[in-house]
Amino acid sequence: MDVMPAISALAERENRTEDDYINEADGLLYCGKCHTPKQARVAFHLGGRQERAVPIVCQCENQAAETAREIAGKMEFQRRMAEFRKGGITDPAYLRYTFAADDRQDPALSDVCRRYVERWAEMEAQNIGILFHGTVGTGKSFYACAIANALVDQCIPAMVTSFPRLLNLLQSAQNRQEIIDGLGRYRLLVIDDLGVERDSSYAAEQIYGVIDARARSGKPLIITTNLPYSELEKPASMQHKRIYDRILELCPVALKMTGDSRRTKNAVAKKAAAKTLLQG
Ligand SMILES: Nc1ncnc2c1ncn2[C@@H]1O[C@H](COP(=O)(O)OP(=O)(O)O)[C@@H](O)[C@H]1O
Ligand SMILES: [Mg+2]
Repeated sequence: MDVMPAISALAERENRTEDDYINEADGLLYCGKCHTPKQARVAFHLGGRQERAVPIVCQCENQAAETAREIAGKMEFQRRMAEFRKGGITDPAYLRYTFAADDRQDPALSDVCRRYVERWAEMEAQNIGILFHGTVGTGKSFYACAIANALVDQCIPAMVTSFPRLLNLLQSAQNRQEIIDGLGRYRLLVIDDLGVERDSSYAAEQIYGVIDARARSGKPLIITTNLPYSELEKPASMQHKRIYDRILELCPVALKMTGDSRRTKNAVAKKAAAKTLLQG
């Protein structure tokens, strides 16, 4: 096969723009913008040595291609992030609980939660979860979700759900194992409000199944609960003891949230604002 015509075609491919010029020193085409060569001289040995100038990419073309690759990479990152958020954090209220919205009323607690995200690699490797406990309205769900949202921002799949929701799902599912396996795909699982689900032997059995699968997956779990810590340590029934023992083992960091209910405070502020608005 005669390859010379192909080489000639390649060599004459038009990569010249208006500002480009032939450099007299080497006779090659140069870019008018970045002044680096757009041609290189290549020797071919095809029954005798022949030299041809062939097109190459100049510095600015190379940079443009690099920038295009970077933009495509960022877009892909954003697309995956949106997908993880949609799949894992389905409650719109949970999406609003972010470190950006944190009022840092308790700075030490806020810092611990932020550090959990910063040290995620170690937390994940050592399977360290958090148990947020305390009375209603103290910000347990807020910080659990802020952590999950911050991880999703880094394209780390995290899910926020609750036992009532999981129990509904498990009850209506054709294949319960599929649901359990689905949870295992999330690198962080947040289960909000342990203890609000209906208290039945069936529910306890399902909950144990979820927690046990999480323990076996070796992936971190964050739990929030209004139950007092003493009840988690010394539950009334054997069935609950099995569940709580597993949770305490998976969530060695127990953060007690104290203070008045922020919900009550928010409601008072809202009432005052509404009054002002309506009184004109
Ligand atoms: N750190 C915080 N910064 C700003 N708002 C907060 C913070 N923690 C809680 N809130 C607000 O207080 C309310 C109650 O918080 P929540 O996390 O739902 O409490 P809990 O889960 O302990 O019952 C929510 O409306 C939430 O927006
Ligand atoms: Mg809550």
